[in-house]
Amino acid sequence: MFGVETVPVEVEVDLSSGLPSVAIVGLPDSAVRESKERIRSALKNTFNTLPKGRLTISLAPADVKKEGAFFDLPIALAILAHLEVLPRQTLQEFTIIGELSLDGKVRRVNGALAIADEVARSAKLPQKLILPHANRLEASLIRDLQLYPVKSLAEAVEVILDPERPPYSRQGEPDIENESLNEDLDFAEVKGQETAKRALEISAAGGHNVLMVGPPGTGKTMLARRLPTILPPLTEAQIVETTKIYSIKGLLGEDGIVRRPPFRAPHHSSSAPAVVGGGNPPMPGEISLAHNGVLFLDELPEFRRDVIEALREPMEEGYIRISRAGTTTRFPARFIMIAAMNPCPCGYLNSTRRTCVCEEYQIQRYRRKVSGPILDRIDLHIEVNDIEPEKLQASESSVDSASMRERVIKARERQRWRFRDTPIETNSQMSNRLIRLHCRLDDKAQEMLKQAVLRLGLSTRAYTRTLKVARTIADLENSEQIKTTHILEALTYRFSWQ
Ligand SMILES: Nc1ncnc2c1ncn2[C@@H]1O[C@H](COP(=O)(O)OP(=O)(O)O)[C@@H](O)[C@H]1O
Ligand SMILES: [Mg+2]
Repeated sequence: MFGVETVPVEVEVDLSSGLPSVAIVGLPDSAVRESKERIRSALKNTFNTLPKGRLTISLAPADVKKEGAFFDLPIALAILAHLEVLPRQTLQEFTIIGELSLDGKVRRVNGALAIADEVARSAKLPQKLILPHANRLEASLIRDLQLYPVKSLAEAVEVILDPERPPYSRQGEPDIENESLNEDLDFAEVKGQETAKRALEISAAGGHNVLMVGPPGTGKTMLARRLPTILPPLTEAQIVETTKIYSIKGLLGEDGIVRRPPFRAPHHSSSAPAVVGGGNPPMPGEISLAHNGVLFLDELPEFRRDVIEALREPMEEGYIRISRAGTTTRFPARFIMIAAMNPCPCGYLNSTRRTCVCEEYQIQRYRRKVSGPILDRIDLHIEVNDIEPEKLQASESSVDSASMRERVIKARERQRWRFRDTPIETNSQMSNRLIRLHCRLDDKAQEMLKQAVLRLGLSTRAYTRTLKVARTIADLENSEQIKTTHILEALTYRFSWQ
């Protein structure tokens, strides 16, 4: 599957005469010790019972490395079946996951959504899933699966003994379709900076990456944080994809489902495994946590070289491949990247508030840190400069998130229709072939762009970026034809220093 690997495990219990003991085969030693302790204690505390004799529990297949504490509950139930507390036949009608606490409670596990998805796809596994109560919401995203969330070992036994018990339904829980917008943040709070806000609207509409350059304190971080407020709501499939990643990382909050486009802002000192993912077993990183949302890289030139390099593949493909010990894991990572940086090392080049103290060569060196491949994948380049004090004091502000989002959603609808027969969703993902197909210019626009290329010395890359952005600007205006005005505006989202 995509991301975590899930392998069904069969629990077998064998009792032989001898001194009372429990052995678990097929788990790493340290995990066995802890698991044994929890299972013994939970059984003792719940049923005041422990098997007499030598108990051997085997988890098959033995050669698969098993992680996490998913097996406590199935093992405890298998033991109870062996003691004939439970009918073995009925137990076999269930797929079971759950960690036990010493007193017999069932604790949340990581990755329950990926497991539920795998169970639903499997032709062999029982489609009744006993799982921790705390994992019920994420698992309920998978349809056609009968869920039996339990809070304790005792409740799991009740479920198995009661054939009449109805499966869990999400009724009464917060509804996904009723997703309300994050009302804490709004673009209305950002005074001035109309150009930057317009650029972010284009970014959200066409899925374009953005680089903001400007002195400290001009609102770059503020602007970036508000980008998710104008993105279209996640589709049910996107909710499942993104929630799966948070589930694997154990990052799901109380409601257990990621309903909104995520926003992630890793610090510039972060390591490559933290940002792109890695480790053994491979875990997703920040770029996957930003899947279907926004990745904000503040102080772009300060990021480690290897981190920037590692971003190339996901920015191109929408996923990241992590290879470990001969196996490759793929995690989804399709996000809008917003990067921010100062115009120079001291930060105040062109500022009206302070004088820049940098030498020309320092400025050049600073900017070179971000040149090249990563810039090629950023369609919108904008300057975010000091705003006039009057504007900062003005009480009424300009555009708010709701109106921006409305336009974004309309523009996305046009794109969904345009790309209905392709695997892509937004203008930013167009290949050269699709650009030729969908960015046709009339003679006047064509001539104007030709002049601009000559006058500004645009590279081929800059030329294609301009066409993609112009396509999105036309979509925001509900225009199939890309007009000269669209091209002219698209040409403004670039830096002279490139
Ligand atoms: N355009 C703006 N409108 C309203 N407040 C602003 C604006 N720009 C800056 N601020 C205020 O200044 C603070 C710092 O802004 P920030 O977004 O961190 O700037 P930057 O990231 O460019 O250094 C914000 O928390 C906000 O209070
Ligand atoms: Mg900032």
